[in-house]
Amino acid sequence: MIKKILSSFTFFGTLTMAFSQTQLYIPPTINSSNINLTLDEGTFQFYPGVVTNTMGANGNLLGPTIILNKGDFYNITVDNQLSDTTTIHWHGLHVAPENDGGPHTIILPNDIWNPQFTVLDKAGTYWYHPHLHKKTDKHVSLGIAGMILVRDSEEASLNLPMSYGVDEFPLVLQTKGFDANGQIEIHTENDTSVMVNGIVDATVDMPAQVVRLRVLNGSSQRVMVFGFSDNRTFSLIGTDGGLLTAPVNLTRYRLGPGQRIDVLVDLSSDLGQSLQIMSYGSELTNGYYGATNPGMAPFMTIPGYNQNPLNGADFQLLNINVVAQTANPITTIPATLANYSPIPEANSVKDRELVFSSAGGMGDLQGPFLINNASMDMNVINEYVPFNNTEIWTLRNQTPIAHPFHIHDVQFFILDINGNPPPPEMQGLNDVVIVPPGQGTVRFIAIFNDVQNDSIPFMYHCHMLTHEDMGMMGQFLVSDKFMNTEDDEVNQLSIYPNPSNGSFKVMLFGVNNVQALRIYNLQGKEVFFKYQIETNQISIDLTEKVAKGTYYVTIQTSDKTYTSKFVIQ
Ligand code: C2O
Ligand code: CU
Ligand code: CU
Repeated sequence: MIKKILSSFTFFGTLTMAFSQTQLYIPPTINSSNINLTLDEGTFQFYPGVVTNTMGANGNLLGPTIILNKGDFYNITVDNQLSDTTTIHWHGLHVAPENDGGPHTIILPNDIWNPQFTVLDKAGTYWYHPHLHKKTDKHVSLGIAGMILVRDSEEASLNLPMSYGVDEFPLVLQTKGFDANGQIEIHTENDTSVMVNGIVDATVDMPAQVVRLRVLNGSSQRVMVFGFSDNRTFSLIGTDGGLLTAPVNLTRYRLGPGQRIDVLVDLSSDLGQSLQIMSYGSELTNGYYGATNPGMAPFMTIPGYNQNPLNGADFQLLNINVVAQTANPITTIPATLANYSPIPEANSVKDRELVFSSAGGMGDLQGPFLINNASMDMNVINEYVPFNNTEIWTLRNQTPIAHPFHIHDVQFFILDINGNPPPPEMQGLNDVVIVPPGQGTVRFIAIFNDVQNDSIPFMYHCHMLTHEDMGMMGQFLVSDKFMNTEDDEVNQLSIYPNPSNGSFKVMLFGVNNVQALRIYNLQGKEVFFKYQIETNQISIDLTEKVAKGTYYVTIQTSDKTYTSKFVIQ
Protein backbone atom coordinates (compact mmCIF):
# COMPACT_ATOMS: atom_id res chain seq x y z
CA MET A 1 0.00 0.00 0.00
CA ILE A 2 1.27 3.43 -0.90
CA LYS A 3 1.44 6.01 1.87
CA LYS A 4 1.55 9.60 0.86
CA ILE A 5 3.75 11.55 3.19
CA LEU A 6 3.21 15.09 1.98
CA SER A 7 0.22 16.47 0.21
CA SER A 8 0.90 17.28 -3.39
CA PHE A 9 0.03 20.11 -5.64
CA THR A 10 0.35 19.80 -9.35
CA PHE A 11 -0.56 21.81 -12.31
CA PHE A 12 -0.24 20.71 -15.84
CA GLY A 13 1.87 22.55 -18.30
CA THR A 14 5.15 22.65 -20.07
CA LEU A 15 6.65 23.98 -16.87
CA THR A 16 6.14 21.71 -13.93
CA MET A 17 7.11 23.65 -10.83
CA ALA A 18 7.00 21.57 -7.76
CA PHE A 19 5.59 23.72 -5.00
CA SER A 20 4.97 20.72 -2.90
CA GLN A 21 6.18 17.27 -3.52
CA THR A 22 5.45 13.77 -2.40
CA GLN A 23 8.05 11.29 -1.29
CA LEU A 24 8.82 8.72 -3.97
CA TYR A 25 7.26 5.36 -3.24
CA ILE A 26 9.71 2.45 -3.39
CA PRO A 27 7.82 -0.80 -3.97
CA PRO A 28 8.71 -3.58 -1.52
CA THR A 29 10.69 -6.54 -2.82
CA ILE A 30 9.92 -10.23 -3.00
CA ASN A 31 13.12 -12.20 -2.72
CA SER A 32 12.03 -15.80 -2.32
CA SER A 33 11.66 -18.93 -4.43
CA ASN A 34 7.93 -18.88 -3.68
CA ILE A 35 6.35 -15.77 -5.09
CA ASN A 36 2.75 -14.87 -4.35
CA LEU A 37 1.00 -12.10 -6.20
CA THR A 38 -2.61 -11.19 -5.47
CA LEU A 39 -4.25 -8.98 -8.06
CA ASP A 40 -7.04 -6.83 -6.73
CA GLU A 41 -9.01 -3.67 -7.24
CA GLY A 42 -8.43 -0.76 -4.89
CA THR A 43 -8.35 3.00 -4.72
CA PHE A 44 -5.55 5.50 -4.64
CA GLN A 45 -5.26 9.27 -4.27
CA PHE A 46 -2.98 10.45 -7.06
CA TYR A 47 -4.26 13.92 -6.11
CA PRO A 48 -5.20 14.71 -2.52
CA GLY A 49 -8.88 14.20 -1.89
CA VAL A 50 -9.50 12.60 -5.29
CA VAL A 51 -10.28 8.92 -4.88
CA THR A 52 -9.33 7.03 -8.03
CA ASN A 53 -10.22 3.41 -8.70
CA THR A 54 -7.11 1.35 -9.32
CA MET A 55 -5.76 -2.16 -9.71
CA GLY A 56 -2.62 -3.49 -8.09
CA ALA A 57 -0.62 -6.56 -7.19
CA ASN A 58 -0.35 -7.06 -3.41
CA GLY A 59 -1.62 -3.53 -2.90
CA ASN A 60 -3.68 -0.75 -4.41
CA LEU A 61 -1.30 0.27 -7.17
CA LEU A 62 1.64 -1.24 -9.06
CA GLY A 63 3.22 -4.34 -7.52
CA PRO A 64 6.25 -5.49 -5.56
CA THR A 65 9.68 -5.62 -7.17
CA ILE A 66 10.53 -9.27 -7.73
CA ILE A 67 14.20 -10.19 -7.29
CA LEU A 68 15.22 -13.33 -9.18
CA ASN A 69 18.56 -15.09 -9.33
CA LYS A 70 19.72 -16.52 -12.62
CA GLY A 71 19.68 -20.32 -12.51
CA ASP A 72 17.23 -20.55 -9.62
CA PHE A 73 13.85 -22.24 -9.80
CA TYR A 74 10.75 -20.24 -8.89
CA ASN A 75 7.25 -21.27 -7.97
CA ILE A 76 4.81 -18.42 -8.55
CA THR A 77 1.15 -18.11 -7.66
CA VAL A 78 -0.93 -15.35 -9.15
CA ASP A 79 -4.28 -15.06 -7.41
CA ASN A 80 -6.77 -13.08 -9.48
CA GLN A 81 -9.13 -11.26 -7.13
CA LEU A 82 -10.11 -8.78 -9.86
CA SER A 83 -13.66 -8.88 -11.17
CA ASP A 84 -12.07 -9.23 -14.63
CA THR A 85 -10.19 -12.03 -16.35
CA THR A 86 -6.54 -11.13 -16.83
CA THR A 87 -3.05 -12.56 -17.39
CA ILE A 88 0.38 -11.75 -15.99
CA HIS A 89 3.28 -11.63 -18.44
CA TRP A 90 6.96 -11.59 -17.38
CA HIS A 91 8.11 -9.05 -19.93
CA GLY A 92 11.60 -9.84 -21.20
CA LEU A 93 12.09 -13.15 -19.40
CA HIS A 94 13.03 -16.14 -21.51
CA VAL A 95 10.43 -18.61 -20.22
CA ALA A 96 8.35 -21.35 -21.86
CA PRO A 97 5.13 -20.18 -23.55
CA GLU A 98 2.93 -21.80 -20.89
CA ASN A 99 4.73 -19.72 -18.25
CA ASP A 100 4.93 -16.53 -20.28
CA GLY A 101 1.49 -15.20 -19.36
CA GLY A 102 0.48 -14.11 -22.84
CA PRO A 103 -3.14 -13.60 -23.90
CA HIS A 104 -3.85 -17.36 -24.09
CA THR A 105 -2.90 -18.04 -20.48
CA ILE A 106 -5.88 -16.39 -18.86
CA ILE A 107 -6.61 -16.28 -15.14
CA LEU A 108 -10.33 -16.16 -14.46
CA PRO A 109 -11.62 -14.11 -11.51
CA ASN A 110 -10.98 -16.00 -8.26
CA ASP A 111 -8.61 -18.37 -10.03
CA ILE A 112 -4.96 -19.00 -9.30
CA TRP A 113 -2.27 -19.40 -11.95
CA ASN A 114 0.85 -21.28 -10.99
CA PRO A 115 3.78 -20.82 -13.37
CA GLN A 116 7.06 -22.48 -12.43
CA PHE A 117 10.36 -21.93 -14.13
CA THR A 118 14.10 -21.65 -13.84
CA VAL A 119 15.44 -18.19 -14.61
CA LEU A 120 17.62 -18.34 -17.74
CA ASP A 121 18.10 -14.60 -18.16
CA LYS A 122 21.16 -12.52 -17.48
CA ALA A 123 21.16 -9.92 -14.72
CA GLY A 124 18.90 -7.15 -15.91
CA THR A 125 15.76 -5.09 -15.51
CA TYR A 126 12.56 -6.82 -16.56
CA TRP A 127 8.93 -6.21 -15.60
CA TYR A 128 5.53 -7.82 -15.30
CA HIS A 129 2.14 -6.65 -16.42
CA PRO A 130 -1.25 -8.01 -17.55
CA HIS A 131 -1.61 -9.07 -21.19
CA LEU A 132 -5.26 -9.93 -21.82
CA HIS A 133 -6.09 -9.41 -25.49
CA LYS A 134 -7.76 -6.00 -25.99
CA LYS A 135 -7.50 -5.16 -22.28
CA THR A 136 -3.80 -4.72 -21.68
CA ASP A 137 -4.09 -0.94 -21.52
CA LYS A 138 -7.00 -1.13 -19.11
CA HIS A 139 -5.23 -3.37 -16.63
CA VAL A 140 -1.84 -1.65 -16.92
CA SER A 141 -3.21 1.90 -16.84
CA LEU A 142 -5.38 1.12 -13.84
CA GLY A 143 -2.19 0.15 -12.10
CA ILE A 144 -0.88 -3.40 -12.47
CA ALA A 145 2.83 -3.32 -13.28
CA GLY A 146 5.91 -4.29 -11.32
CA MET A 147 9.63 -4.57 -11.80
CA ILE A 148 11.71 -7.72 -11.96
CA LEU A 149 15.41 -7.47 -11.17
CA VAL A 150 17.44 -10.51 -12.19
CA ARG A 151 20.77 -10.90 -10.40
CA ASP A 152 23.63 -13.13 -11.49
CA SER A 153 27.24 -13.86 -10.53
CA GLU A 154 28.65 -11.70 -13.31
CA GLU A 155 26.78 -8.68 -11.95
CA ALA A 156 27.82 -9.57 -8.39
CA SER A 157 31.49 -9.44 -9.41
CA LEU A 158 31.23 -5.87 -10.73
CA ASN A 159 30.97 -3.74 -7.59
CA LEU A 160 27.76 -2.09 -8.75
CA PRO A 161 25.26 -0.42 -6.42
CA MET A 162 22.91 -3.23 -5.39
CA SER A 163 21.29 -2.03 -2.16
CA TYR A 164 17.68 -1.70 -3.22
CA GLY A 165 16.13 1.60 -2.13
CA VAL A 166 19.48 2.81 -0.77
CA ASP A 167 21.80 3.19 -3.75
CA GLU A 168 19.69 1.35 -6.32
CA PHE A 169 16.28 2.78 -7.20
CA PRO A 170 13.44 1.31 -9.28
CA LEU A 171 11.80 4.08 -11.32
CA VAL A 172 8.57 3.23 -13.13
CA LEU A 173 7.95 6.24 -15.38
CA GLN A 174 4.34 6.67 -16.44
CA THR A 175 1.90 9.19 -17.73
CA LYS A 176 -1.81 8.70 -17.17
CA GLY A 177 -5.00 10.49 -18.15
CA PHE A 178 -7.79 11.29 -15.70
CA ASP A 179 -11.40 12.12 -16.49
CA ALA A 180 -13.43 14.86 -14.81
CA ASN A 181 -14.32 12.45 -12.00
CA GLY A 182 -10.72 11.68 -11.27
CA GLN A 183 -10.89 8.22 -12.86
CA ILE A 184 -8.17 6.77 -15.07
CA GLU A 185 -8.88 6.93 -18.78
CA ILE A 186 -8.09 4.03 -21.11
CA HIS A 187 -6.86 4.44 -24.70
CA THR A 188 -6.49 8.14 -24.12
CA GLU A 189 -4.38 10.93 -25.58
CA ASN A 190 -5.13 12.93 -22.42
CA ASP A 191 -2.22 11.52 -20.38
CA THR A 192 -1.29 14.82 -18.77
CA SER A 193 -0.31 13.38 -15.36
CA VAL A 194 3.34 12.45 -14.92
CA MET A 195 4.24 9.97 -12.20
CA VAL A 196 7.13 7.85 -10.96
CA ASN A 197 6.22 4.67 -9.07
CA GLY A 198 2.65 6.00 -9.01
CA ILE A 199 3.61 9.29 -7.34
CA VAL A 200 2.81 12.57 -9.05
CA ASP A 201 5.41 15.26 -8.36
CA ALA A 202 7.72 12.82 -6.64
CA THR A 203 10.87 13.63 -4.74
CA VAL A 204 13.50 11.30 -3.36
CA ASP A 205 16.69 11.51 -1.31
CA MET A 206 19.72 9.89 -2.88
CA PRO A 207 23.18 9.64 -1.33
CA ALA A 208 26.18 11.65 -2.62
CA GLN A 209 27.85 8.71 -4.39
CA VAL A 210 27.33 6.57 -7.47
CA VAL A 211 23.67 5.54 -7.54
CA ARG A 212 21.95 3.11 -9.83
CA LEU A 213 18.60 3.78 -11.48
CA ARG A 214 16.54 0.91 -12.87
CA VAL A 215 14.26 2.80 -15.22
CA LEU A 216 11.14 1.50 -16.96
CA ASN A 217 8.95 3.44 -19.33
CA GLY A 218 5.64 1.94 -18.22
CA SER A 219 3.51 4.43 -20.12
CA SER A 220 0.73 3.31 -22.42
CA GLN A 221 1.94 5.22 -25.44
CA ARG A 222 4.38 8.00 -24.62
CA VAL A 223 8.02 7.90 -25.69
CA MET A 224 10.23 9.63 -23.10
CA VAL A 225 13.67 11.19 -23.45
CA PHE A 226 15.46 10.45 -20.18
CA GLY A 227 17.98 13.02 -18.95
CA PHE A 228 18.97 15.19 -16.00
CA SER A 229 17.99 18.85 -15.53
CA ASP A 230 21.63 19.97 -15.57
CA ASN A 231 22.33 17.88 -18.66
CA ARG A 232 24.93 15.91 -16.74
CA THR A 233 26.47 12.80 -18.20
CA PHE A 234 25.26 9.46 -16.90
CA SER A 235 26.59 5.98 -17.58
CA LEU A 236 24.24 3.62 -19.33
CA ILE A 237 25.19 0.17 -18.06
CA GLY A 238 22.27 -1.92 -19.27
CA THR A 239 19.25 -2.11 -21.54
CA ASP A 240 16.22 -4.45 -21.68
CA GLY A 241 18.05 -7.77 -21.54
CA GLY A 242 20.83 -6.87 -19.14
CA LEU A 243 24.21 -5.27 -18.80
CA LEU A 244 26.12 -3.84 -21.73
CA THR A 245 29.70 -4.99 -22.30
CA ALA A 246 30.93 -1.54 -21.18
CA PRO A 247 29.27 1.63 -19.88
CA VAL A 248 28.21 4.22 -22.45
CA ASN A 249 28.32 7.86 -21.36
CA LEU A 250 25.23 9.78 -22.42
CA THR A 251 23.14 12.80 -21.55
CA ARG A 252 19.88 11.46 -23.05
CA TYR A 253 18.22 8.12 -23.70
CA ARG A 254 15.07 7.77 -25.76
CA LEU A 255 12.87 5.25 -24.01
CA GLY A 256 9.81 3.79 -25.73
CA PRO A 257 6.92 2.20 -23.85
CA GLY A 258 8.04 -1.13 -22.39
CA GLN A 259 11.77 -0.33 -22.58
CA ARG A 260 14.15 -0.35 -19.61
CA ILE A 261 17.54 1.19 -18.93
CA ASP A 262 20.03 0.59 -16.14
CA VAL A 263 21.85 3.83 -15.33
CA LEU A 264 24.69 4.87 -13.03
CA VAL A 265 24.92 8.52 -12.07
CA ASP A 266 27.64 10.03 -9.93
CA LEU A 267 26.20 12.34 -7.26
CA SER A 268 29.49 12.56 -5.25
CA SER A 269 29.89 16.29 -5.69
CA ASP A 270 26.23 17.22 -5.28
CA LEU A 271 25.74 16.98 -1.52
CA GLY A 272 23.00 19.36 -0.41
CA GLN A 273 21.96 20.07 -3.99
CA SER A 274 18.92 18.98 -5.89
CA LEU A 275 18.50 17.99 -9.50
CA GLN A 276 15.68 16.57 -11.55
CA ILE A 277 15.13 13.66 -13.87
CA MET A 278 13.40 15.02 -16.92
CA SER A 279 11.80 13.82 -20.10
CA TYR A 280 13.02 16.06 -22.91
CA GLY A 281 9.97 15.69 -25.12
CA SER A 282 10.94 18.79 -27.08
CA GLU A 283 13.85 16.80 -28.48
CA LEU A 284 11.68 14.09 -30.05
CA THR A 285 11.36 14.40 -33.78
CA ASN A 286 7.85 14.45 -35.17
CA GLY A 287 6.49 10.97 -35.75
CA TYR A 288 7.26 9.78 -32.22
CA TYR A 289 4.39 9.76 -29.70
CA GLY A 290 5.31 12.59 -27.34
CA ALA A 291 6.72 14.95 -29.98
CA THR A 292 4.92 18.12 -31.06
CA ASN A 293 3.28 16.15 -33.87
CA PRO A 294 2.53 12.43 -33.54
CA GLY A 295 2.93 11.98 -37.30
CA MET A 296 5.73 13.01 -39.58
CA ALA A 297 3.70 15.87 -41.04
CA PRO A 298 1.68 18.44 -39.05
CA PHE A 299 -1.60 17.65 -40.80
CA MET A 300 -1.43 14.07 -39.56
CA THR A 301 -2.85 13.95 -36.08
CA ILE A 302 -4.81 12.05 -33.46
CA PRO A 303 -7.89 13.70 -31.88
CA GLY A 304 -6.92 15.15 -28.51
CA TYR A 305 -3.18 14.88 -29.09
CA ASN A 306 -2.44 18.55 -29.75
CA GLN A 307 -4.37 19.63 -26.63
CA ASN A 308 -2.00 17.65 -24.39
CA PRO A 309 0.60 20.09 -23.01
CA LEU A 310 3.16 17.30 -22.51
CA ASN A 311 3.50 16.77 -26.25
CA GLY A 312 6.62 18.42 -27.59
CA ALA A 313 7.46 19.66 -24.09
CA ASP A 314 10.17 18.98 -21.54
CA PHE A 315 8.72 17.87 -18.21
CA GLN A 316 9.96 16.85 -14.81
CA LEU A 317 9.69 13.23 -13.72
CA LEU A 318 11.46 13.18 -10.36
CA ASN A 319 13.20 15.56 -7.98
CA ILE A 320 16.36 14.26 -6.33
CA ASN A 321 17.76 15.77 -3.13
CA VAL A 322 21.34 14.68 -2.63
CA VAL A 323 22.00 13.68 0.98
CA ALA A 324 24.92 12.23 2.95
CA GLN A 325 26.83 9.22 1.72
CA THR A 326 26.00 5.78 3.00
CA ALA A 327 28.58 3.62 4.73
CA ASN A 328 30.82 1.92 2.16
CA PRO A 329 29.56 3.96 -0.76
CA ILE A 330 30.27 2.99 -4.35
CA THR A 331 32.20 5.85 -5.90
CA THR A 332 33.52 4.39 -9.12
CA ILE A 333 32.00 3.10 -12.32
CA PRO A 334 33.46 -0.13 -13.72
CA ALA A 335 35.22 0.17 -17.09
CA THR A 336 33.81 -3.09 -18.39
CA LEU A 337 30.60 -4.93 -17.60
CA ALA A 338 29.15 -8.16 -19.00
CA ASN A 339 31.05 -10.50 -21.26
CA TYR A 340 29.23 -11.58 -24.42
CA SER A 341 29.43 -11.06 -28.13
CA PRO A 342 26.65 -10.29 -30.56
CA ILE A 343 25.24 -13.13 -32.67
CA PRO A 344 27.06 -13.14 -36.03
CA GLU A 345 24.74 -12.28 -38.89
CA ALA A 346 25.95 -15.31 -40.84
CA ASN A 347 24.50 -17.63 -38.19
CA SER A 348 20.98 -16.80 -39.29
CA VAL A 349 19.12 -19.60 -41.06
CA LYS A 350 15.88 -17.75 -41.64
CA ASP A 351 14.72 -14.26 -42.54
CA ARG A 352 11.31 -12.98 -41.67
CA GLU A 353 9.77 -9.65 -42.49
CA LEU A 354 7.03 -7.83 -40.61
CA VAL A 355 5.48 -4.85 -42.36
CA PHE A 356 3.52 -2.33 -40.30
CA SER A 357 0.70 -0.51 -42.04
CA SER A 358 -2.45 1.30 -41.08
CA ALA A 359 -5.93 0.08 -41.91
CA GLY A 360 -6.74 3.74 -42.54
CA GLY A 361 -4.08 3.98 -45.23
CA MET A 362 -0.90 6.00 -45.49
CA GLY A 363 -0.95 9.08 -43.29
CA ASP A 364 -3.41 7.57 -40.82
CA LEU A 365 -2.34 7.72 -37.19
CA GLN A 366 -5.36 6.20 -35.55
CA GLY A 367 -5.09 2.68 -36.85
CA PRO A 368 -5.95 -0.01 -36.29
CA PHE A 369 -2.39 -0.76 -37.30
CA LEU A 370 -1.68 -4.03 -39.03
CA ILE A 371 1.32 -6.35 -39.19
CA ASN A 372 1.70 -8.02 -42.59
CA ASN A 373 -1.78 -6.78 -43.43
CA ALA A 374 -3.36 -8.67 -40.57
CA SER A 375 -4.85 -7.75 -37.24
CA MET A 376 -4.27 -9.97 -34.20
CA ASP A 377 -6.43 -13.09 -34.37
CA MET A 378 -6.19 -15.38 -31.36
CA ASN A 379 -6.89 -18.33 -33.69
CA VAL A 380 -4.21 -17.60 -36.26
CA ILE A 381 -0.54 -18.47 -35.84
CA ASN A 382 1.39 -15.94 -37.87
CA GLU A 383 4.87 -17.47 -37.75
CA TYR A 384 6.22 -20.97 -37.13
CA VAL A 385 9.74 -20.87 -35.73
CA PRO A 386 11.80 -24.06 -35.66
CA PHE A 387 13.29 -24.63 -32.22
CA ASN A 388 16.93 -23.46 -31.95
CA ASN A 389 16.66 -21.30 -35.06
CA THR A 390 18.84 -18.24 -35.33
CA GLU A 391 16.81 -15.74 -37.34
CA ILE A 392 16.94 -12.23 -38.71
CA TRP A 393 13.68 -10.31 -38.52
CA THR A 394 13.19 -7.18 -40.59
CA LEU A 395 10.62 -4.69 -39.32
CA ARG A 396 9.32 -2.22 -41.88
CA ASN A 397 7.20 0.68 -40.77
CA GLN A 398 4.98 2.01 -43.54
CA THR A 399 3.11 4.32 -41.19
CA PRO A 400 3.99 7.92 -40.26
CA ILE A 401 4.35 7.15 -36.54
CA ALA A 402 7.14 5.24 -34.77
CA HIS A 403 6.14 1.92 -33.16
CA PRO A 404 8.01 0.37 -30.20
CA PHE A 405 8.10 -3.25 -31.36
CA HIS A 406 8.36 -5.94 -28.68
CA ILE A 407 8.87 -9.68 -29.05
CA HIS A 408 8.39 -12.30 -26.37
CA ASP A 409 10.74 -15.25 -25.72
CA VAL A 410 13.98 -13.71 -26.96
CA GLN A 411 16.39 -10.88 -26.34
CA PHE A 412 17.72 -9.70 -29.68
CA PHE A 413 20.68 -7.80 -31.06
CA ILE A 414 19.82 -4.89 -33.34
CA LEU A 415 21.69 -5.28 -36.66
CA ASP A 416 20.70 -1.98 -38.18
CA ILE A 417 18.20 0.87 -38.05
CA ASN A 418 17.40 2.46 -41.40
CA GLY A 419 20.44 0.63 -42.72
CA ASN A 420 22.86 2.03 -40.14
CA PRO A 421 24.48 -0.01 -37.39
CA PRO A 422 23.04 0.80 -33.96
CA PRO A 423 24.86 3.32 -31.73
CA PRO A 424 26.75 1.79 -28.74
CA GLU A 425 23.80 2.38 -26.41
CA MET A 426 21.67 0.10 -28.58
CA GLN A 427 24.22 -2.67 -29.08
CA GLY A 428 23.19 -4.66 -26.00
CA LEU A 429 20.34 -7.10 -25.53
CA ASN A 430 16.89 -5.69 -26.17
CA ASP A 431 13.32 -6.89 -26.36
CA VAL A 432 11.83 -3.58 -27.51
CA VAL A 433 13.04 -1.49 -30.42
CA ILE A 434 11.47 1.67 -31.76
CA VAL A 435 10.90 1.31 -35.50
CA PRO A 436 11.22 4.79 -37.05
CA PRO A 437 8.24 6.22 -38.95
CA GLY A 438 7.84 6.59 -42.69
CA GLN A 439 9.46 3.51 -44.25
CA GLY A 440 11.75 3.07 -41.26
CA THR A 441 13.39 -0.32 -40.98
CA VAL A 442 15.01 -2.25 -38.18
CA ARG A 443 16.72 -5.61 -38.52
CA PHE A 444 17.46 -7.75 -35.49
CA ILE A 445 18.94 -11.19 -34.89
CA ALA A 446 17.85 -13.63 -32.18
CA ILE A 447 18.10 -17.29 -31.20
CA PHE A 448 14.85 -19.09 -30.41
CA ASN A 449 16.34 -21.67 -28.08
CA ASP A 450 15.73 -23.29 -24.67
CA VAL A 451 11.95 -23.12 -24.54
CA GLN A 452 9.24 -24.34 -26.87
CA ASN A 453 5.60 -25.38 -27.06
CA ASP A 454 3.85 -26.44 -30.25
CA SER A 455 0.44 -25.14 -29.23
CA ILE A 456 0.87 -22.09 -26.99
CA PRO A 457 2.25 -19.16 -28.96
CA PHE A 458 4.48 -16.27 -28.03
CA MET A 459 3.48 -12.73 -29.02
CA TYR A 460 5.12 -9.92 -30.89
CA HIS A 461 3.45 -6.55 -30.90
CA CYS A 462 3.64 -2.81 -30.71
CA HIS A 463 4.08 -1.83 -27.03
CA MET A 464 1.93 1.26 -27.43
CA LEU A 465 -0.92 -0.37 -25.58
CA THR A 466 -3.61 1.33 -27.60
CA HIS A 467 -2.07 -0.05 -30.79
CA GLU A 468 -1.63 -3.48 -29.22
CA ASP A 469 -5.22 -3.63 -27.95
CA MET A 470 -6.46 -2.61 -31.39
CA GLY A 471 -4.70 -5.58 -32.94
CA MET A 472 -1.11 -4.58 -33.74
CA MET A 473 0.09 -7.97 -32.56
CA GLY A 474 0.93 -11.37 -34.01
CA GLN A 475 1.79 -14.78 -32.61
CA PHE A 476 4.48 -17.35 -33.23
CA LEU A 477 5.05 -20.91 -32.15
CA VAL A 478 8.49 -22.26 -31.38
CA SER A 479 8.86 -26.02 -31.69
CA ASP A 480 11.25 -28.69 -32.89
CA LYS A 481 8.29 -30.10 -34.83
CA PHE A 482 8.83 -27.35 -37.36
CA MET A 483 11.69 -27.78 -39.79
CA ASN A 484 12.85 -24.81 -41.74
CA THR A 485 11.38 -26.38 -44.89
CA GLU A 486 7.99 -27.07 -43.32
CA ASP A 487 8.09 -23.67 -41.84
CA ASP A 488 8.64 -22.17 -45.27
CA GLU A 489 5.49 -23.88 -46.55
CA VAL A 490 3.64 -21.59 -44.24
CA ASN A 491 5.56 -18.76 -45.81
CA GLN A 492 4.93 -19.92 -49.37
CA LEU A 493 8.51 -20.74 -50.31
CA SER A 494 10.50 -23.85 -49.55
CA ILE A 495 13.89 -25.19 -50.63
CA TYR A 496 14.52 -28.92 -50.57
CA PRO A 497 16.93 -30.33 -49.61
CA ASN A 498 18.56 -27.60 -47.58
CA PRO A 499 21.52 -27.73 -47.27
CA SER A 500 22.09 -29.36 -50.67
CA ASN A 501 25.11 -30.13 -52.87
CA GLY A 502 23.85 -27.54 -55.34
CA SER A 503 21.00 -29.55 -56.82
CA PHE A 504 17.70 -28.65 -55.17
CA LYS A 505 14.04 -27.85 -55.72
CA VAL A 506 12.30 -24.56 -55.04
CA MET A 507 8.71 -25.26 -54.08
CA LEU A 508 5.97 -22.66 -54.03
CA PHE A 509 2.75 -22.81 -52.07
CA GLY A 510 -0.15 -20.62 -53.02
CA VAL A 511 2.07 -18.15 -54.85
CA ASN A 512 0.55 -16.92 -58.11
CA ASN A 513 1.76 -14.81 -61.02
CA VAL A 514 5.41 -15.62 -60.54
CA GLN A 515 7.44 -13.34 -62.76
CA ALA A 516 10.99 -14.22 -61.81
CA LEU A 517 13.17 -16.41 -59.66
CA ARG A 518 16.59 -15.08 -58.77
CA ILE A 519 19.44 -16.43 -56.68
CA TYR A 520 21.95 -14.15 -54.99
CA ASN A 521 25.07 -14.81 -53.02
CA LEU A 522 25.67 -13.19 -49.62
CA GLN A 523 27.34 -10.23 -51.31
CA GLY A 524 24.14 -9.58 -53.25
CA LYS A 525 25.52 -10.73 -56.62
CA GLU A 526 22.95 -12.52 -58.78
CA VAL A 527 24.19 -16.02 -59.66
CA PHE A 528 21.10 -17.47 -61.34
CA PHE A 529 17.77 -16.31 -62.71
CA LYS A 530 14.76 -17.79 -64.41
CA TYR A 531 11.72 -16.05 -65.87
CA GLN A 532 8.29 -17.36 -66.85
CA ILE A 533 7.81 -19.93 -64.17
CA GLU A 534 4.77 -22.08 -64.80
CA THR A 535 5.12 -24.80 -62.19
CA ASN A 536 5.22 -24.64 -58.42
CA GLN A 537 8.26 -26.96 -58.25
CA ILE A 538 11.38 -25.66 -59.90
CA SER A 539 14.44 -27.93 -60.08
CA ILE A 540 17.73 -26.07 -60.14
CA ASP A 541 21.21 -27.52 -60.52
CA LEU A 542 24.08 -25.25 -59.54
CA THR A 543 26.54 -28.06 -58.70
CA GLU A 544 30.05 -27.04 -59.85
CA LYS A 545 28.61 -23.68 -60.99
CA VAL A 546 28.79 -21.74 -57.75
CA ALA A 547 30.96 -21.83 -54.65
CA LYS A 548 29.79 -23.51 -51.48
CA GLY A 549 28.05 -21.11 -49.15
CA THR A 550 24.85 -19.35 -48.27
CA TYR A 551 22.52 -18.00 -50.94
CA TYR A 552 19.19 -16.25 -51.17
CA VAL A 553 16.41 -17.18 -53.52
CA THR A 554 13.79 -14.56 -54.31
CA ILE A 555 10.49 -15.15 -56.03
CA GLN A 556 8.93 -12.08 -57.52
CA THR A 557 5.21 -11.87 -58.22
CA SER A 558 3.22 -8.93 -59.52
CA ASP A 559 2.84 -7.49 -56.03
CA LYS A 560 5.27 -9.25 -53.68
CA THR A 561 8.73 -10.65 -53.28
CA TYR A 562 9.34 -13.79 -51.27
CA THR A 563 12.84 -14.53 -50.04
CA SER A 564 14.43 -17.55 -48.45
CA LYS A 565 17.97 -18.40 -47.49
CA PHE A 566 19.62 -21.73 -48.27
CA VAL A 567 23.01 -23.38 -48.12
CA ILE A 568 25.10 -25.24 -50.70
CA GLN A 569 27.77 -27.44 -49.14
CU1 C2O B 1 5.31 -6.02 -22.19
CU2 C2O B 1 3.77 -8.58 -24.81
O1 C2O B 1 4.47 -7.27 -23.49
CU1 CU C 1 6.78 -9.21 -23.31
CU1 CU D 1 2.28 1.11 -32.52
